[in-house]
Amino acid sequence: MKRSGLHPYRQRSLTGEAAGAHVDEAPDADEFLSDVLRGLSARRKTLPCKYFYDAEGSRLFDEICELDEYYVTRTEVGILEANVAEMAELLGDRCLLFEYGSGSSVKTRLLLDQLESPAGYVPIDISCDHLLATADDLRRAYPEIPILPICSDYTSAVTLPPAAAFARNRALFFPGSTLGNFAPDESIDFLTRMASLVGPGGLVLIGEDLQKDVQVLLDAYDDADGVTAAFNLNLLSRINQELGGNFRLDRFSHEARWNEKRARVEMHLRSEVDQVVQVAGRAFRFVPGETIWTESSHKFTPEAFAATAKKAGFCVDRIWTDSKRYFSIQLLRAVTDGADPEA
Ligand SMILES: C[S@@+](CC[C@H](N)C(=O)[O-])C[C@H]1O[C@@H](n2cnc3c(N)ncnc32)[C@H](O)[C@@H]1O
Repeated sequence: MKRSGLHPYRQRSLTGEAAGAHVDEAPDADEFLSDVLRGLSARRKTLPCKYFYDAEGSRLFDEICELDEYYVTRTEVGILEANVAEMAELLGDRCLLFEYGSGSSVKTRLLLDQLESPAGYVPIDISCDHLLATADDLRRAYPEIPILPICSDYTSAVTLPPAAAFARNRALFFPGSTLGNFAPDESIDFLTRMASLVGPGGLVLIGEDLQKDVQVLLDAYDDADGVTAAFNLNLLSRINQELGGNFRLDRFSHEARWNEKRARVEMHLRSEVDQVVQVAGRAFRFVPGETIWTESSHKFTPEAFAATAKKAGFCVDRIWTDSKRYFSIQLLRAVTDGADPEA
């Protein structure tokens, strides 16, 4: 397997009991089932990408981050390494740092190394076992920082931890271009919610993947070793294991497509044959070539992203990018708590 060798994702321990409190508000089996039945019943079959992430999905994502083709992590880490001292200074001392979709918090460590007396770090992730194991590792590495994980769908409301009372300001880290999973209108709503979380004057440090050569994009979502394919197909394994589905994984294949009109890479699972699949007693017919659309990754221009952020009540304080302009990190400041400052 090709690896960049730059990032320590796979060297980290994912075992051990998590100490300390956490709030567990992740979707339960009923919600998973109703989302799956709704998605497979749609005229154009689809499944929400948040369900990629059980323990195996999180492990596979960490493996993707090390692939040569997946420039995303490597490039964003490079921008962070070059600018993290300035970023930490702009976030200020005694900041309470939230992170949406924190995963293994590898990028966050760069910030935690630099922040002055943070009031706490609140990683929020849907993949509970992975989140709690990561929180355990962080508590050992940063015993002086309160680590306050919340296992939750980040689109639902976040309850502020008591540490918020000691914070000078609130900031949110949202790396990985995960905002690109949302459709443009959804991303304005989601950014508006981020503005409410950090409050007026609060900061959001957000990474966006930029538009570039289509082949570079497609390779990043369809690597030669098939790790991204395994990640995509793991969603069907989850449905089999947790919802009693009978998907035959050898009858579906992974596909990455560039949608020029919408400026996004789409991941699909393509049925190779005419087949009927059962999930919880419901039958779903697939014709050959029919797909389940599992993820969108919208690609931005820095200018279009800044315009979107402004509609959600932010102004852009800083933009950092790499020499190839593959990726950018923007520092957004909430002007209001969620409305267009010029509206
Ligand atoms: C693309 S990975 C990014 C991980 C990490 N932030 C990075 O930049 O490498 C997306 C992360 O968000 C989490 N996630 C996806 N959808 C979520 C949701 N709706 N609510 C909470 N976490 C979610 C996943 O479990 C995963 O850890």
